[in-house]
Amino acid sequence: MKQVSVLLVGVGGYGAGYVREMLDHGAERGVSLAGVVDPFAAASRYYDELAACGVGFFDTVEAFYAGNGADLAVISTPIQFHAHQAIYCVEHGSHVLCEKPAAATVEDVERMIEARDRTGKTLAIGFQWCYDPAMLRLKADVDAGLLGRPVSMKSLVLWPRAVSYYKRGLGWAGKKYDAAGAAIFDNVASNATAHYIENMLWLAGEGYGGVDVADMRVQTLRANDIEMFDTIVMDAALENGAGMFFVASHATGPDGWQNPVFEYEFENATVRYGMLGGDSDALVATFRDGAVKDYGASSTGGCDRKLETAIALVRGEAVPLPCPLEAAIRHTRAMAMIRAKRPEAEVFPSGAARTDDGMVWVPGLKDRLVRCYENREML
Ligand SMILES: NC(=O)c1ccc[n+]([C@@H]2O[C@H](COP(=O)([O-])OP(=O)(O)OC[C@H]3O[C@@H](n4cnc5c(N)ncnc54)[C@H](O)[C@@H]3O)[C@@H](O)[C@H]2O)c1
Repeated sequence: MKQVSVLLVGVGGYGAGYVREMLDHGAERGVSLAGVVDPFAAASRYYDELAACGVGFFDTVEAFYAGNGADLAVISTPIQFHAHQAIYCVEHGSHVLCEKPAAATVEDVERMIEARDRTGKTLAIGFQWCYDPAMLRLKADVDAGLLGRPVSMKSLVLWPRAVSYYKRGLGWAGKKYDAAGAAIFDNVASNATAHYIENMLWLAGEGYGGVDVADMRVQTLRANDIEMFDTIVMDAALENGAGMFFVASHATGPDGWQNPVFEYEFENATVRYGMLGGDSDALVATFRDGAVKDYGASSTGGCDRKLETAIALVRGEAVPLPCPLEAAIRHTRAMAMIRAKRPEAEVFPSGAARTDDGMVWVPGLKDRLVRCYENREML
């Protein structure tokens, strides 16, 4: 087995999951740590364990590559750094697994595609639903035509977030630009719930390339004191004629949780995941003739399968890359369309929002958003 050296770029926040994977399973996978790039690595909960491995710490990718190299770079940094770091890593000889979203702007993702093609490196994006075995089994059936054409898809995700979520790390969450002028455009649909838009665009497209949104009606709102939005209702038409309806919010309050639910209507079957008012991880298609196909529990936890796929690709194994930039850019284009349609988020009417235990939220919003989802209606 070819040894693979891995550079971890960003080891706090979500990146801690990749650190854990490397520390717990690196040796058995024939993978070693080439270094860590994170100017705040000491704040990572695994800093001591990383330091005990004797790994080198660097503040920038430039500093790392000045005297080192890696087969694979795993980038889990704030969105505004993705394009520069991914391009720098492929230009310096590494394949890249970059966390979602690919980047803040379509132009940045196009630059990443250009750099990938120029260097011949792999550049994978970490939308984990694309790597999930149950979802991949469903995708294979969709591509084989068993479900017929996608007709109408919808999903709902309500994940309450406290004010501390927006203040974490560099304070980039909910912002349009950072202090250096780099685009971030972080919002509920570009970050935490991005998976569920991307999944519809990916599943409805051909192969692993996805499909674009042709047009949309969209409402973006905010209860929190942020520059972007924490609540969205989107009614979109895809370029292949299918409908896509999406509802998400971080402002539904301490009891306002609803884990992802979706219902994807195809010509021959309806695919369901999740459960309104509860939880379910079953991914099931019910066909028009009454047949039911259970694709298995879909668990989207993540880092392990993404890392496994990236390592296999580095080794030159004949595995497909289920989330290439060509798929991820569909989500970035949808985000750009939202900004074009709604340059500024609407603020929930004064008095509608309240603050409890460090969370700004809107009473009654969860029920209203569930109704939007059930009836495919705007807020
Ligand atoms: N796939 C998922 O389910 C999932 C979940 C959460 C976050 N994410 C993605 O992971 C990325 C990071 O998000 P987060 O919530 O962990 O952010 P965060 O701010 O909590 O953590 C970011 C990490 O990057 C480090 N960092 C900051 N600037 C850096 C730089 N210039 N170079 C290297 N490291 C730097 C920080 O010190 C921190 O360790 C985002 O793209 C986010 O969308 C993915």
